[in-house]
Amino acid sequence: MLNLVLFGPPGAGKGTQSEKLILKYNLVHLSTGDLLRSQIAAGTELGLRAKQLMDQGLLVPDEVVIGMIENKLQENQSAAGFIFDGFPRTVPQAEALDQLLAQHNTQITTMVALVVDDEELTRRLLLRGQTSGRPDDQNEELIRRRVKEYNDKTAPVAGYYNQQGKFAAIDGIGNIETIFDHICAEIQQASN
Ligand code: AP5
Ligand code: MG
Repeated sequence: MLNLVLFGPPGAGKGTQSEKLILKYNLVHLSTGDLLRSQIAAGTELGLRAKQLMDQGLLVPDEVVIGMIENKLQENQSAAGFIFDGFPRTVPQAEALDQLLAQHNTQITTMVALVVDDEELTRRLLLRGQTSGRPDDQNEELIRRRVKEYNDKTAPVAGYYNQQGKFAAIDGIGNIETIFDHICAEIQQASN
């Protein structure tokens, strides 16, 4: 089984690269951001509560996203593997994911981090905000808050996987196909 964590700050290209990776490796895409946005679109109570935090660029509580991932693992028991996009975002989420995967007799293969500087992240997200309608892409201050939340709470997750010998960082700036090839090379190495 191939279980990949695709890591990086807001706008690093996790969703863009996930779309290509799921096709090549036949993986199930688990993006907690997408799952939360579909709860918002459906008008559920969970969605309403999450929206208040997401619109401010803040993380939603660990138990909410862990519960969503638990359900998805349960629903996709015959999957060839998973790509985790935007999860885990805190060390407690990473610990919970290890436990959940162990219950399914599997584990994380590797984490690949996309490295992109703050200036480029802001440029990409403001550009997307012109057409996406995502409330959290609308202004520079909100984007800065998302990046700060990432630096404070999420960046330590890289160390968690590094300690397990499951971490690779790659340059996330430049041609989308070239970045994809580099991610595939890391997957190849981690699968040997
Ligand atoms: P989430 O939906 O995960 O958003 P994010 O991580 O903040 O960032 P994005 O999805 O915007 O970026 P991305 O890395 O996927 O980049 P993309 O490929 O889209 O989370 C949203 C919110 O939900 C959080 O703030 C939080 O509130 C909540 N949440 C989610 N998960 C949570 C969790 N686990 N715990 C707690 N809360 C959680 O690319 C961005 C743009 O750049 C696109 O327009 C794309 O076309 C462009 N682009 C991509 N690659 C390139 C390239 N190489 N060159 C130029 N442009 C590029
Ligand atoms: Mg995304």
